[in-house]
Amino acid sequence: MAKSNTLAIDFGTSNSAAGIMVNGKPYLVELEAGKTTIPTSLFFDFEGQKILFGKPANKALIEGYEGRFMRALKSILGTSLMREKRRMMGETLDFIDIISRFLKEIKTRAERACHQEFDTALSGRPVYFHSGNAVKDAQALADLTQCYLKAGFRDVHFMYEPEAAAIANHALSDDGKAGLIVDIGGGTSDFCLFKSKGTGIDILASHGVRVGGTNFDKSISVDHVMPLLGKGSDIRNEMGAGTLTAPNGLFQDLATWEKIPFLYSADTRRMVKNLHHLAVEKPLFARLESVLTHELAHEMAFAVEHGKIRLNKGLNDHSMIDLGFVENGLNVNISKQDLTGSLAAHAQKIQDCAKETLVLAGLPATSVASVILVGGSSLMSVVERAMMDIFPTATLKYADAFTAIVDGLVISSADKNLR
Ligand SMILES: Nc1ncnc2c1ncn2[C@@H]1O[C@H](COP(=O)(O)OP(=O)(O)OP(=O)(O)O)[C@@H](O)[C@H]1O
Ligand SMILES: [Mg+2]
Repeated sequence: MAKSNTLAIDFGTSNSAAGIMVNGKPYLVELEAGKTTIPTSLFFDFEGQKILFGKPANKALIEGYEGRFMRALKSILGTSLMREKRRMMGETLDFIDIISRFLKEIKTRAERACHQEFDTALSGRPVYFHSGNAVKDAQALADLTQCYLKAGFRDVHFMYEPEAAAIANHALSDDGKAGLIVDIGGGTSDFCLFKSKGTGIDILASHGVRVGGTNFDKSISVDHVMPLLGKGSDIRNEMGAGTLTAPNGLFQDLATWEKIPFLYSADTRRMVKNLHHLAVEKPLFARLESVLTHELAHEMAFAVEHGKIRLNKGLNDHSMIDLGFVENGLNVNISKQDLTGSLAAHAQKIQDCAKETLVLAGLPATSVASVILVGGSSLMSVVERAMMDIFPTATLKYADAFTAIVDGLVISSADKNLR
């Protein structure tokens, strides 16, 4: 049962939020100046010997402070990388420690803002951290539980993120008719099919798939940016005649938010130095070496993300991904068609998952009167189109993209019937 000292937390892949009920209404904590959300980012500031969280972490990265940046750590939950230890600022830390530092910071900021201590957390969770892998999925939940306990909470309860969004936004669906929450975040896409019932909801089915905006960024980068660093180009065969294609895995990891910190190692630098030596197109690999030496891969990921959002929003058919920080004048021009092409497989997975949600509930698509979009990546037009395709008769509605989930968690944290 939830107690009044429960803090509701939406720990997101890209952004996090927290809140409590005050006078019967959700009150969201101002986690950063003027903001009720905080980027889920950390920066180990080697010079200042402190950890920066959220926007200051992003800023330290962009301004080139000496240190180590991390983002999208939620995606590591359930994988063997969680237990990799590294020495940083005089401590040996694994990713349980690192995520728990972030959660502890949220707890501290919330306690300061609310003038009370929280010993219990009600946390959101995706329906599947790892869709299609029950073992990894269970491990992810066990990892996140451990992170909350290490952050100083005595107890943690979990609730499906799309169910929280349904609780907060049930008024957007017509009474008695089915509504579908479509929550496309940074790491996962989650669905909740529900019917409004008085002031509450009946949940008909919840479902999810491990696809989100960080996967969008990765695909755009792999298709349009990584070739500038040598992806797909030839390397002379060290053992004999002829050439081989440069190892693809390296470029996949370099384009993956949560994998980047693992590439900044002596082993990878040595391997890239060797690739440079054997490369047919040396300038590409000189660039790759420089990106690793100067640790610029996160900045590249930010440039791709900004390019994605600008192109999606803009009236122009093209957008530039500015990589001038890698090399003077370096940039990539991508078109809306390129964007659609890079995201097609993801849009298909999201569509399939929405259809499976209907099957789980045993309902036809025509029974859904409202499709309610939440999560930052629901603002992508490929997602809108994918949903309109399946639900041509439904009304598309937008709830607050970044706070719908925490609102529902807050409401539920005050509910005595908490699971
Ligand atoms: N205006 C926008 N248009 C398109 N995409 C956007 C926009 N703003 C943010 N995004 C994308 O939305 C994602 C973050 O969304 P959100 O904050 O809902 O995710 P999250 O809750 O942190 O992740 P998850 O719920 O999957 O753990 C990022 O991938 C970001 O690039
Ligand atoms: Mg989310």
